[in-house]
Amino acid sequence: MKGIILAGGTASRLYPINQAVSKQLLPVYDKPMIYYPLAVLMQANIRDILLITNANQLPAFRQLLSDGKQWGINISYAIQAKPEGIAQAFLIAEDFIAAQNIALILGDNLFYAESLASKLKNIKQIGATVFAYKIKNPERYGVIEFDDDFKAISIEEKPQKPKSNYALTGLYFYDNRVLDFAKDLKPSARGELEITDINQRYLEQKQLNVEILARGTAWLDTGTPESLLDASNFVRTIEERQGFKIACLEEIALENNWIMKEDILKQVQKLNIQNSYRNYLLELL
Ligand code: G1P
Repeated sequence: MKGIILAGGTASRLYPINQAVSKQLLPVYDKPMIYYPLAVLMQANIRDILLITNANQLPAFRQLLSDGKQWGINISYAIQAKPEGIAQAFLIAEDFIAAQNIALILGDNLFYAESLASKLKNIKQIGATVFAYKIKNPERYGVIEFDDDFKAISIEEKPQKPKSNYALTGLYFYDNRVLDFAKDLKPSARGELEITDINQRYLEQKQLNVEILARGTAWLDTGTPESLLDASNFVRTIEERQGFKIACLEEIALENNWIMKEDILKQVQKLNIQNSYRNYLLELL
């Protein structure tokens, strides 16, 4: 299984914050936003990762993440010239995906869930797996409807009258047929290749596996100045209280045995700074 992080979009609701810096590079408390989705892929045991962004921002992402070797992973980069939909990522990534299964995570999706890591390590290899999360106002998302046995029966993108309170998060796992489905897509009314249409295809084939994220889980939005600040405060609250960091990539790489303590020590020695992230790395040792 390989992974894609899509860090495109215009983030217009963040104007003027979005003018010079990509949304996914903005801080969420003590790390750039992109660390959080990257941590999720790493927790799913995915080591080959393609980051898709626009041409302007690509150098900044490369400067931040480099080739991923420091975390025992391979990061490569591709350009989405225009924000023409999430599902376009599969067309851009066709050569990267080749004959493999593929995970896709949106670069602005933040998850905090005790059970997520173990769920992610047991994803089905056939069909699609998506994650539903109960929220108060689902109108801005893909909304999934269930029957009485909690079997998915419909999906709608940003419906005016949602048929349920379950939004689909920006984390998706697909078998290789996603490439064929993506090639078949037509742009929606808003001119985008919709991820919802891909999920619809899997649903029609009875191969859409929907995992419900439990109520103790946090799936946070970062689309507005308010929600961005809320996400930072959330991360700070948990980290300060518990002393653990959320989405510390070195820690996940160490847990996965992709790097060794000596590798972290070398990285720390190169950092000519004193701050809480460096101190946390030292504590890991
Ligand atoms: C996209 C998807 C939507 C999904 C959401 C999750 O919306 O189209 O189905 O629920 O991501 O973050 P967008 O961010 O493009 O508005």
